[in-house]
Amino acid sequence: MSDKVRKLIIAIDGHSSCGKSTVARQIAHELNYIFIDSGAMYRAVALYCLRNQIIVDGIVDLPRLLANLENIKVYFKWNPLTGQNDIWLNEENVAEEIRLLQVSQNVSPIAAVAEVRHLLVSLQHEMGKSKGIVMDGRDIGTVVFPNADLKIFMTADPKVRAQRRYDELVAKGEEVSFEEIMTNIIERDRYDESREVSPLRKAGDAIILDNSLMTREEQLAWIFDKVSDI
Ligand code: DC
Repeated sequence: MSDKVRKLIIAIDGHSSCGKSTVARQIAHELNYIFIDSGAMYRAVALYCLRNQIIVDGIVDLPRLLANLENIKVYFKWNPLTGQNDIWLNEENVAEEIRLLQVSQNVSPIAAVAEVRHLLVSLQHEMGKSKGIVMDGRDIGTVVFPNADLKIFMTADPKVRAQRRYDELVAKGEEVSFEEIMTNIIERDRYDESREVSPLRKAGDAIILDNSLMTREEQLAWIFDKVSDI
């Protein structure tokens, strides 16, 4: 495969909860590439803001957020127990906590702040410097790596996405209703697509992958097929 010759940048963008990170992680594993879940970075900043009452009832205290930005250190650290890179916020592993529904419900307004995006995008550029990276998010193919070698835009029927996310959270013991998950998914899509800074958009040269009716194996085979065409 051509990746043996040349290290690629693979950008996977798309709607909330359509399994981007799971697929991106597996692709990176197969290719022996770095995997970066950029959404985890935005979630870690949102968690900091929730803990410090910088966001309350979905309203961001912008002056305090900007004053606190230099105190927010977000990075990935290898976890030998799981064999995955976990997201850290300052001195703490927050890989589990950032998945709480409360964080999902507050992350979009934080991700809409230009200064937050600027900070995280510069960290993402740094991570992609030596290529050999699969990064998933909302603006990877449009803003972070506009010259990525392969751009995929993932989507799926909102009902299918909500059901998958609901099953996942219930399996973890979170008490949630299907309706609140569905509402959160639809609202996040709308918020992410309509924000002024780096809105969620399909890059002109991205290929759409609608996985509503696809198994994980079929999605991986589909992507590897594209990778082998490069
Ligand atoms: O991928 P995710 O659902 O974990 O992302 C959480 C939120 O972060 C999502 O609602 C939008 C935002 N996000 C973003 O604005 N840009 C990215 N590159 C990744 C995520």
